[in-house]
This record gives sequence, structure tokens and C-alpha cells, in this order.
Amino acid sequence: MRISVIGCGYLGAVHAACMAKLGHQVIGIDVDEAKIAALSNSKAPFYEPGLDELLEEVQASGRLSFTTDMAEAAASSVHFICVGTPQKKGENGADMTFVDAAASDLLEHLGPGDLVVGKSTVPVGTASRLSDVIRAQEPDAHLVWNPEFLREGHAVADTLSPDRFVYGVSDGSEDHPAVSVLDEVYSAPLAGGTPRLVTDHPTAELVKTAANSFLATKISFINAMAELCEAAGADVTQLADAIGMDDRIGRKFLNAGIGFGGGCLPKDIRAFMARAGELGADQALTFLREVDSINMRRRTRVVELTRELCGGTLLGKRITVLGAAFKPESDDVRDSPALSIAAQLQLQGAVVTVTDPKALANAAKRFPELHYEPETHVSVEKADALLLLTEWQEYQNLDPYELGRRVESPRILDGRNVLDSEKWRAAGWTYRGLGRP
Ligand code: UDX
Repeated sequence: MRISVIGCGYLGAVHAACMAKLGHQVIGIDVDEAKIAALSNSKAPFYEPGLDELLEEVQASGRLSFTTDMAEAAASSVHFICVGTPQKKGENGADMTFVDAAASDLLEHLGPGDLVVGKSTVPVGTASRLSDVIRAQEPDAHLVWNPEFLREGHAVADTLSPDRFVYGVSDGSEDHPAVSVLDEVYSAPLAGGTPRLVTDHPTAELVKTAANSFLATKISFINAMAELCEAAGADVTQLADAIGMDDRIGRKFLNAGIGFGGGCLPKDIRAFMARAGELGADQALTFLREVDSINMRRRTRVVELTRELCGGTLLGKRITVLGAAFKPESDDVRDSPALSIAAQLQLQGAVVTVTDPKALANAAKRFPELHYEPETHVSVEKADALLLLTEWQEYQNLDPYELGRRVESPRILDGRNVLDSEKWRAAGWTYRGLGRP
């Protein structure tokens, strides 16, 4: 099939490469010339494991190319909208500028029978609104909302074999003509057993925001338990293991620590609250405000604990922050709790050095005032305290004995509860976890 993918960021670049991998002829379109130039050379403009190799493979096959010219979408019959929906400046709602621009730029290139497939995370009601705009231009075209659930760091695998497909069509019916077309697009994963659900437009939009809200709530729940564990002298990691054995609860997403960040969960729960307010259903989501504030409290807690760890003052203390990305296997620093903590510590008088295997360039753009050092062993030299804030495997593998010889004082705060506390204490370190005695 001939497919266009509009928006080549985290979502679109991966989607374009994966659609080509599934055997389709794909054109990726973006307004950012630098991004298109990089992608045309099989270089993703961000770090995502396996993506560069996949881009190279599918571009060599001639099935994938990139352009800034929307007119090239005219040769395709299925158009995926994969542009971003960031948080509006100074407001909780989602900024729909890019989605609206993508849809309106596409209009004149649509032909009868074409499918416009929305993948971006949008406020409920967007699909029906865009559907009307599209049908006014091309009565025989259809709009489907087909949310994407990929996780950064696992984006290629999540796109090629997702947990499920959700198709939101105008009448919510299996017989809608768009269903068979999308089934053809995804024929390989469907044949491999990936389930798919057909819903109406608003349900499909809500599936995505509900899923992200649930995940955020689960993380804030365990972080609230971490606060209680600290107050009561209990251990939240054991508590999570024990409640997670109940398969109604499950152990995944119950890792207490510095909280969630990234380009999705924080802004998606805020946009969801804002949309609920517009719909007159704000009471239904007031709990998400609490989810957000529990999450933000983690960052303050880490600053306080670091001050305790440093003997009561941060002034002039040399702190090394291990990890800048919002999660491992990513160079994404959008709303990264690790970086936000590093900046707070610096503001309160500490001398902060940040290290990360992949995210330093992005981090330096966002917080140029922090000091960055790519080599872990150099970054820890003469440190008064280490903070492990992004759980990259290489930090989990650090040798406490070897590291102890480099630092000024062997003190570590494990912001992700991933280190073996006994091993570190046995090597002479003062170890602090979050929600652990
Ligand atoms: C998320 C959703 O998982 C994905 O389905 C959606 O499409 C986009 O948003 P992503 O932002 O890539 O994906 O990250 P995710 O793996 O969900 O982690 C989000 C944040 O939660 C990270 O900062 C992570 O460190 C944190 N987290 C995760 C915890 O603090 N504890 C956990 O137990 C799990």
C-alpha cells in the first residue's frame, strides 16, 4: 500500500520506518528540514534503539523516503497524522496547532476513498471535528482515530507488534469501509495475533488518555506508599513486590522513585483534566490533580534527602547526578525529573555535574547552566554525594568499591531503588533509597 506519515518526530519516524518494514511504500513528511535531511541519511534525530538500523534497511529497499513537500502525500491513499500535541504554554490544555495544520495542509491532496488516520494523542472530540472538515473537502475520504501506545526505548517493537490496535471510526461499526483498509495496512501483526477493537471516534481517543492516566496513577500510588513507608519505617520495594503478586494489581509500573516524566504522561494527564473541564465533567478527574502533585512532590523530596545526605546543607557541595534522560534507553529530556532535580540542587547552592550515556546534548540545551561530563568515572571525581536518577543499566552495574576510591564522600541516593543497598553499605557507602528505611 502507499502510505504517507505526516510528522516525523518520535512517533512518526518510528511509524514510517515500521510501515515500510511491513512491506508498504512510505513517504515521511515533516516541515523541519534538518529532521528530513537526517532521516533521509538513515539517522534518527533522536536516540531510539534499533531505529537507525531499521531506517537503513528499509531505505535500502526503496520503500521509504522523506520530504518536506506535502504535495507528495497525493500519491498515497492512507495518511497517518503523527504530529505532536504539546502542553499549551501557561495552560493545562493540549496545543492542537500542529494537528490542525497537518490536517488542513493535507486536505487538497486527498482523493476519493483515502483514509486519514490520526495517531497523535488528542483531546476527545478532535476526531469528529476533523472528520467533518475532511468530508467537506472530500466526501469519499474517511477519518480513523488509531491511537499509538509505543514506549520510548521500545518504540520499534511496540509498533511492529503492539498489545492491541484500536480503530475509532465515525459509526463505530466493524462494517465501516475504513476497517478493511486499516486491516490491510496492519495485516502482518494482525495475522500474528495482535487483537484489534473497532470503536467510535470518542472512545478511541479516550482509550489513549485513559491508559496514560491509569499508568500515571499507578506510579503515583506507589510513590504515595513510598511517602508512608518513609514515615512508618517500612520498605516500599518489598511492599510493591508483595502487592504486585496479586495479579489483579500486577507488579509492572509499581516502581517507586523520583516519579514519572517524559513527553507524554505529565502533559497528557493535564490535557485530560482540562478537556474534562470543558465537557463539564471536571469532577471525574480531580484525582489526577493529586496524581500530578504526588509526582511533583517526589522531586522536592529528593532535594531534601540530598541536603540531609550532605549533612544539612547543599552550599558548595559537589553533587553528581547519574542520568539526565526521563528514562533509560532514551535521550529525551522533556519534563525529565532527573534534570529538574539537578537544576533545583544547583539553584540551592550545590555544584552539580550531570552525566548520561545519551542525553547530555539535549540536557545542555534545556539547562545550559549545569555542568555536563560524558564519562561516568570523571563525573564522580571528588563528589560529596551521588544521585542515581535514571536507571541506565551501566549505572546499575557500577562497582561500589571502585567508585568509592574516586569520590570525596561515599554517599549515594538511589532515586530509582535499583541498587543492592546491602552491597553498597558493605562497601562503606551511606545508601539512601526512596521509601526505604
Ligand atoms: C508512555 C506510555 O507508557 C506509552 O504507552 C504512551 O504511548 C506514551 O507514554 P513513555 O513516555 O515512553 O510511554 O514512558 P514510560 O515507560 O511509560 O515511563 C514514563 C515515566 O514513568 C518515566 O519517567 C519512568 O521512569 C516512570 N516510571 C515508570 C516510574 O517512575 N515507575 C514505574 O514503575 C514505571
